Amino acid sequence: MKIQTTRRALLGAALATPALLAGTARAQSNWPSQPITLVIPFAPGGPTDAVGRMLAEAMSRDLGVNVVAQNVGGAGGTIGVNRVAQARPDGYTILLHNIGMSTAPTLYRRLPYNPLTAFETLGLVTATPMVWLTRPDFPAANFGEMLRLIREGGERINLGNAGLGSASQLCGTLLQASLGTRFTAVSFAGSGPIYPELMASRLDIYCDQTTSAIPFIQSNQIKAMAVTTPEPLPALPGVSTAIQGGLPGFEVAIWHGLYAPAGTPKPVQDRLNAALRFALADARVVERMTGLGSPPEPVERQNGEVHRAHLAAEIERWRPILQAAGQFAD
Ligand code: MLT
Repeated sequence: MKIQTTRRALLGAALATPALLAGTARAQSNWPSQPITLVIPFAPGGPTDAVGRMLAEAMSRDLGVNVVAQNVGGAGGTIGVNRVAQARPDGYTILLHNIGMSTAPTLYRRLPYNPLTAFETLGLVTATPMVWLTRPDFPAANFGEMLRLIREGGERINLGNAGLGSASQLCGTLLQASLGTRFTAVSFAGSGPIYPELMASRLDIYCDQTTSAIPFIQSNQIKAMAVTTPEPLPALPGVSTAIQGGLPGFEVAIWHGLYAPAGTPKPVQDRLNAALRFALADARVVERMTGLGSPPEPVERQNGEVHRAHLAAEIERWRPILQAAGQFAD
């Protein structure tokens, strides 16, 4: 019986194969035929959300279906990332994530996904500068004074972050390593929920990406102390660099990439990459991103292979730095 079953099963599969392939080809040629979910692994109102919603709107126009931004926050972004790692590889669930894709493998000893095998890389999006911020009444007039108060205050200073593995947490880790000082870190599901705490002076300092920080700085609801770029930013006139403020070599830019679950058909990956490139060439997107200090990546980096090589290199780059910092999660 077993042998008969096997023969029948094999015959059925052989007969179905052309139809199956034709069906798959038809599905891919009709792709997309339903809305696409773009998972943003942080709460609404943060930098990842800001970039993600700009991408979703422009990609919708190119693809002819709604690209719907879905915020899935928590655990430094790893909860949302894992949601996409587990999704059907049909192109209808994709992910926008930042540098945290490359730091999580070192920070989380039991990370439920391997970034290099659980995802297809669809292209790099942008590299966003960061800016050191304080509550509006923090008694520092500049970055140098902020550093002095942190050294003196130690763990009495409260720093917000978006969880272990987030860009904001990485920036704080780098400052602690530079100063040899530990402050108290308070984690949230993203930058969005942090700003009300900072503006109400329930947090002292925060390091965030310019894509969400600039509107709050421009409305004088928080104070900008220094940017993490080698040179001052045109988008933040009058704000010095951390290097000028007394921290030689303190530079960090938060790269972002677009991902699909591993096994997503190559024609679908190519179509998603085309929609990404359309979005990053869209005049309104370019103007908005540039105005927030974070222009799109050059076209040659909006490429899946370049993205994959960058991800692999970043995992290795950050591993020794984070191991030395000694902050891990089981
Ligand atoms: C966000 O809300 O997008 C997070 O703050 C980003 C991050 O810190 O990684």
